[in-house]
Amino acid sequence: MGIKLVVLTGAGISAESGLRTFRGNDGMWEHENIEDVCTPRALRRDPKRVMDFYNFLRKGLPNHQPNAAHIALAELEKRLGDDFLLVTQNVDNLHERAGSKRVLHMHGDLMKLRCMDNSDHEFMFDGEETLETKCPFCGAKTRPDIVFFEEVPFYMDEIQAALRECKEFVYIGTSSVVYPAAGFKSFAKSFGAHVTCLNLEVPDNDPYTDVSIQGKATEIVPKWCESFK
Ligand code: APR
Repeated sequence: MGIKLVVLTGAGISAESGLRTFRGNDGMWEHENIEDVCTPRALRRDPKRVMDFYNFLRKGLPNHQPNAAHIALAELEKRLGDDFLLVTQNVDNLHERAGSKRVLHMHGDLMKLRCMDNSDHEFMFDGEETLETKCPFCGAKTRPDIVFFEEVPFYMDEIQAALRECKEFVYIGTSSVVYPAAGFKSFAKSFGAHVTCLNLEVPDNDPYTDVSIQGKATEIVPKWCESFK
């Protein structure tokens, strides 16, 4: 039996844990310029600036706790097992700290660094990355294990295979403006999935969304998870 349910989460699921979303009022990109911290050019031009941005976010993470929405998805995974796949655009570790075991971080993971010479060399890291930080496998320079704009997200083959076979695709806490994640709903729909949106702002008459439930993630996600059979 293939994957029955694919859930995609975005920054909105972590908003009630106190983590800033990217767009909307007081969004991350109102405080930092994407060009300075989240592009390959930024990493070439000023790697310390990029590292310090992600060091700041990584250092702050322990002050933020998973919320009821993260916990509900972890419980749903326990109930559904391999029929369930969680894909997140978020780089925070709140899904894992809520108990989720299989989380595909398609935009990377704040708690990891990657080798500049060999992208297979990735490793857990909870400290402060500097220009002197070295890859533990080969000694080369490192970078945050974050997918920058203009870079290819991770796990795309696995995600597309799951979207082809799932019966239900649910997207939670995402503005659906950044591709390829924003295209998952139409892709899943084209293979016959039922599509549900759980978000603070719901899209009005989106052609690919069958059901939209408006509200705060900590309220609507646990209720939806309980109702899913
Ligand atoms: N509950 C539910 N949804 C919420 C909540 C909440 N408490 N607070 C905000 N939202 C919704 C907003 O209405 C918005 O639609 O979450 C969404 C957040 O959108 P963005 O800030 O654009 O975040 P996201 O969609 O995850 O961004 C996608 O863009 O910058 C890149 O790589 C970055 O992964 C990120 C990608």
